[in-house]
Amino acid sequence: MRIGALESETDFDGWRKAARAFRSAGVRPEEAAFRVGGGDGGLFDEVEPQGGEGAQFPVPRAFVELAQAVILHRSADRFDLLYRLLWRLEREPDLMKVVSDRDVADAFERAKNVSRASHKMKAFVRFRLAQEEGEEHWISWFEPAHRVLERTAPFFARRFATMRWSILTPDGQAHWDERMLTFGPPATRDMAPAEDEIEDFWKTYYASTFNPARLKTQTMQGEMPKRYWANLPEAALIPELIASAAARENAMVAAPAPEPNPRLAKTLARMNRDRAFEEGFVPSNLEELGQAVQACRRCPLWRDATQGVCGQGARKARLMIVGEQPGDQEDLAGKPFVGPAGQVLDAALEEAGIDRDDAFVTNAVRHFKHEPRGKRRIHQTPTTSEITACRWWLDAERTLVRPKVIVTLGGTAALGVLGRKVAVTKERGRPIPLSDATALLTVHPSYLLRIPDREVAALERERFVADLKAVRRLL
Ligand code: URA
Repeated sequence: MRIGALESETDFDGWRKAARAFRSAGVRPEEAAFRVGGGDGGLFDEVEPQGGEGAQFPVPRAFVELAQAVILHRSADRFDLLYRLLWRLEREPDLMKVVSDRDVADAFERAKNVSRASHKMKAFVRFRLAQEEGEEHWISWFEPAHRVLERTAPFFARRFATMRWSILTPDGQAHWDERMLTFGPPATRDMAPAEDEIEDFWKTYYASTFNPARLKTQTMQGEMPKRYWANLPEAALIPELIASAAARENAMVAAPAPEPNPRLAKTLARMNRDRAFEEGFVPSNLEELGQAVQACRRCPLWRDATQGVCGQGARKARLMIVGEQPGDQEDLAGKPFVGPAGQVLDAALEEAGIDRDDAFVTNAVRHFKHEPRGKRRIHQTPTTSEITACRWWLDAERTLVRPKVIVTLGGTAALGVLGRKVAVTKERGRPIPLSDATALLTVHPSYLLRIPDREVAALERERFVADLKAVRRLL
């Protein structure tokens, strides 16, 4: 017997390495076994060293995807089943299409069970509130039918992006700190809070959505199998709700709506916002937009930034000023143009006779792109794809503010506003008609800060002020 040692129950890479090594050495399925944890228990003749490289066999992509799912199944013989399929694929290259084959059908059935377990996890995880050092931490205890935690956790990261949460399971833990998803060792039920103050409100919420007139007990139990009831606060209501369905049906029309609880309402609103954002959310005002940007995942820049920074200023400003992206100070303050470039801008606006308070000041990109150098965070220019991804926010601001004139500061802002790359130095200072406003391009104030020669800097600053005066004439 040859043994493939795997690091964990879901170690797909380990299984693949060992299986490749077996196959290249001609080890037949009945002579191969896989064991989690490695080490020789004395039962077997030979232990395959972990990480053993084998020849690269071409295998259909469908098999790889199937195997990645099947490995999450709780059955002990899943590794053997997969190796048997891999072995047979060499002689039967179309095997994956033979759905009547016992091994193939068995593997597809197990993959289906895994997918169902992941789906149930999405539906039945319930977070309970724990306060840690004054911060909200939402914790859930869940026992998935199969080992789907790592596969399903990214769904929760997208859906509850702006909550700090942990999902604890007997297989492992997933933690989200509003920025990063990390995984930990198996947990026990006592590590999760048993109850919290919003528990009753889950019940109220469920009871209010439960329609006795539509009661189909079997369907309901199929959708919400009993194995999940223990961790669902609202499940405690099911027997009673079923028993009283007929009476409630009669009384339903007259039943008063439950009192909304402020904390639950806030949580549901936040969940809804994250959900809405995923499904094509359109902000109806600037506050909503400013909140929603914190859940933005349109490009990776959110990962290293403190927060998303939206525009500020007069809600119905005739002038919109668009910069590149928040800098170090703006990232911390959550406001645009409050650092050194902002000071240059403020002084030039004043000289041009424009009151900043009458304008709406924003950026083409919402998150600070930078790289660490010692203790400092050094600005990096956003790429075209990052600027393009972020146009969604700028366009939403344009729709809400409806400025008459938009002045762009530098190339990134020009690309964000016009949607095409432009040579700012060639096109600066003259009006460009857009469908919703007139644009005028000029340089970025931090360009002025970088000019080493004093005389050139003074000249360039004059040109900048002249561009802003041209803006004022357009207003
Ligand atoms: N530079 C910009 O382009 N925008 C800011 O908000 C700050 C610096």
